[in-house]
Amino acid sequence: MAIPIAEELAKKQREISVAEFFERNKHLLGFDNKRKALLTVIKEAVDNSLDACEEAKILPEVKVEIIEMSEERFRIIVEDNGPGIVKKQIPNIFAQLLYGSKFHTMKQSRGQQGIGISAAVLYAQLTTGRPVKIVSKISPDHPAHYYELHIDTTNNKPEIMKEGDIPWKKDKGTKVELDIEATYQKGDQSVDQYLKATAIVNPHATIIYTNPKAEQLVLTRATDKLPKEAVAIKPHPYGVELGIMLKMLRNSDSRTMQSFFCNEFSRVGPQTAKEILDKAKISPQQKPGEIVLAQVEMIMKAIRDTKIIAPPTDCIVPIGKELLEKGLKKEVNAEFYVTVSRSPEVYRGIPFVVEAGLAYGGEQPGDESVKLLRFANRVPLLYQQSSCACFKSVIQTNWKPYGLQQSQSALPVGPLTLAVHLASVWPPFTSEAKEALAHYPEIIKEMKLALQEAGRQLGIYVNKRKKAKEEQERVSIFENYIPEVASALSRITGKSKDSINASMKRMLAKSKEFIEQNQVRLQGEKDD
Ligand SMILES: Nc1ncnc2c1ncn2[C@@H]1O[C@H](COP(=O)(O)OP(=O)(O)OP(=O)(O)O)[C@@H](O)[C@H]1O
Ligand SMILES: [Mg+2]
Repeated sequence: MAIPIAEELAKKQREISVAEFFERNKHLLGFDNKRKALLTVIKEAVDNSLDACEEAKILPEVKVEIIEMSEERFRIIVEDNGPGIVKKQIPNIFAQLLYGSKFHTMKQSRGQQGIGISAAVLYAQLTTGRPVKIVSKISPDHPAHYYELHIDTTNNKPEIMKEGDIPWKKDKGTKVELDIEATYQKGDQSVDQYLKATAIVNPHATIIYTNPKAEQLVLTRATDKLPKEAVAIKPHPYGVELGIMLKMLRNSDSRTMQSFFCNEFSRVGPQTAKEILDKAKISPQQKPGEIVLAQVEMIMKAIRDTKIIAPPTDCIVPIGKELLEKGLKKEVNAEFYVTVSRSPEVYRGIPFVVEAGLAYGGEQPGDESVKLLRFANRVPLLYQQSSCACFKSVIQTNWKPYGLQQSQSALPVGPLTLAVHLASVWPPFTSEAKEALAHYPEIIKEMKLALQEAGRQLGIYVNKRKKAKEEQERVSIFENYIPEVASALSRITGKSKDSINASMKRMLAKSKEFIEQNQVRLQGEKDD
């Protein structure tokens, strides 16, 4: 009897480790070309440093250094003054994919998945074979721990190549060193641009950057005030899907369904819990572990039919109008700035805030598309612009009333930098590389409202400026004609040409004074 094909296939069927999967699919993590790889490695390390400093309430000072080792090979060093990492955790954090502290915590942070820095280590290993080198220190009384690590990709486990304690003059902090294959280029989507944009939305951070040409750029903090601390929240019933509800019920320590709802969700008090359970025809005394699938379906419907107040919003920390403007002023040389910070909204039970800022005029070219800066949780997004909710909301906004040219479904044209920031517990990225935000209608709506609010103020400024310019042009045309008009009038009236000339000039001086006053007013409004 022939062996069934399924038996043959079974011989090939086995588990794939997540590290092996991403080793082959590095593009999913932002390593699809050498230029982008340089940015991704730096971004993962810097994002972690900023997150760690903020969690420890430390004003961040992050040093980034790129050293060119040979053609297409670079050494990246990122050093922070953060809380450091305890010795035992260092191998897991840097050499195991999907290992981190942020995935299960519902509060705003740059990191999410627990894959960022280990993915950078995986890329280094894949392209140069060199281990990651880490120095980390948690207090002046502790030694600094030094590690050299590889990832055992078959098992997604760390392999320790070297470890030990070393002297390090810093009180605390972490330093990561990686050798990678990459290319360095300034301009759009470059490391330089990412760091500058990071400074705009993180005005409390100082970044010291040394590029491969050994040029140093110091982006000094514009404020000594740390962002408010984000407070973790529990899931909101509106955002929990059936499968998650089932898992929560299975894993719950609560003894009754009433306490399950009150303890494990945000915004569910005894009254709301009772209402949900009544609607689902479930006894408040029933044990969570006894709930069967048909009852979970009833619970899901009952939740949809119950009015529950929106989740608390102290889990998100927007930049704020003033600081966003400070950041923009620091990095974009313009003549008019507007910033908007909207009130919190909710998508799938997850709170979020949209902020927008614009910088108009100055040295920016007027005949090109506006420059769009996109941010999620204070991280600049440099790739996949046209797939991002930020882009969609800009092109869906009508910019003509605000004094800019715009063709259909395109970015407007004008001397303008636009910044759109989404602050959320869970920004919905379209891929693990965290490059673009998904098109949730609730998010796009808020973004458009923020852009319109900023746009209206821009429109007022642009129109006033246009009017003032036209007035000035009229005055200078008149000025050019004064001598000719004066001699014509002198011929007709017989009066002296000089006195006519003089009185016309007096008249002109008065109009100029009036226009100048208008300009001062315009300037004042801009500064307010
Ligand atoms: N410089 C650092 N200082 C202190 N802790 C750090 C530092 N870098 C990483 N960590 C810790 O290591 C964990 C894993 O980092 P990793 O970048 O892999 O994931 P993440 O930041 O949680 O999420 P993401 O995959 O979105 O970046 C973090 O959650 C954090 O707890
Ligand atoms: Mg990270």
